[in-house]
Amino acid sequence: MNLKIAVLSGDGIGPEVTLQAKKALHAIGVVYNHEFVFEDAYIGAIAIEKTGKPLPEQTLNLCRNTDSILFGAIGDSKYDNDPSAKIRPEQGLLKLRKELGLFANIRPIKAYPKLMNSSPIKKEVLQGTDFVVYRELNGGMYFGEKHTNEEGTYASDLCEYNEEEIVKISHLAFKAAQNRRKKVTLVDKANVLETSRLWRRVVTEVAKEYPDVTLEFLYIDNASMQIIVNPRQFDILLTDNLFGDILSDEASVISGSIGLMSSASIGEKYSLFEPIHGCYTEARGKNIANPIASILSVALLLEHFGLVTESKKVIAAVEKAIVSNVVTVDLKVDSQFGTNEVGDFISNYILNEGDLYFKKDFVQLGQSTIV
Ligand code: IPM
Ligand code: MN
Repeated sequence: MNLKIAVLSGDGIGPEVTLQAKKALHAIGVVYNHEFVFEDAYIGAIAIEKTGKPLPEQTLNLCRNTDSILFGAIGDSKYDNDPSAKIRPEQGLLKLRKELGLFANIRPIKAYPKLMNSSPIKKEVLQGTDFVVYRELNGGMYFGEKHTNEEGTYASDLCEYNEEEIVKISHLAFKAAQNRRKKVTLVDKANVLETSRLWRRVVTEVAKEYPDVTLEFLYIDNASMQIIVNPRQFDILLTDNLFGDILSDEASVISGSIGLMSSASIGEKYSLFEPIHGCYTEARGKNIANPIASILSVALLLEHFGLVTESKKVIAAVEKAIVSNVVTVDLKVDSQFGTNEVGDFISNYILNEGDLYFKKDFVQLGQSTIV
């Protein structure tokens, strides 16, 4: 397969983790005979710095003319500390999601046996957890009318949804459930919000087309608690844009680090793959950022294009790195491995798994656990 991929590595640790994702994808290309052609473009704070806009036309055009997009991270503390800034890096990502119609954000959550101790949640609670958040990505409070009065003493963000937006993501969620444990949990606040009541009605209708899938409902406040006290109960969590944003960060605690969490943003025509973590500016250039979320986003990309064996290979390589303790400091405080070494291990494993155990670089780094 030939794929042209736009690489929007963005800000902070974005470029360094995306580089590792490119390495993994390149390795897959070599082993399975695919050609992946990468083209870089600016987005976020770096784009504002270079062009004055968080999403330059050139970047958007490139995305419209490629098969898929690999995204890094955006943001910069200088904007975080300045609520009055009119142009902000995040606007680039939000505009991109909207312009490309990326309406579904898919975030897999899983407890890795080797990393149970990295999570503050008890092992007995975590064991066997494996669910996927389906977050609506083009609507809700993120995109409703925004307003601040002239004095700056009043502000509002409108939360809006229409039937069609809910129907589209619901079908994807139910289809995914059919291939899993056949359960969809709709998370909302239907005891208070009109939009949530609309979600319940529409999702209940869609569910009729999937009689083999059980539909359950949970209020967001209860769901936030259930994710911590009994995460195993979930299979597919379907929810709106804002609730999905919050719940997926919360759920990352299950895996042990947000640095492991990948995501796919899917539309009718376009697709974008990104880690769910942010730009982590303090870590930029220090070779400490965990590249696994970015690399697992590559697994999602491959799966999206029907390259299932290739996708599984990337996941196996990541799991090998984890069981071999070739992880960054977020997962092992005294780890000697950085972003590059973890990325190298994973792409080397993809390229040549048999020889890896004897690779002298790793042995020299003292990782006797690998052998
Ligand atoms: C995410 C991020 C974004 C969001 C930000 C950077 C706008 O937190 O992808 O989860 O809120 O959607
Ligand atoms: Mn988020």
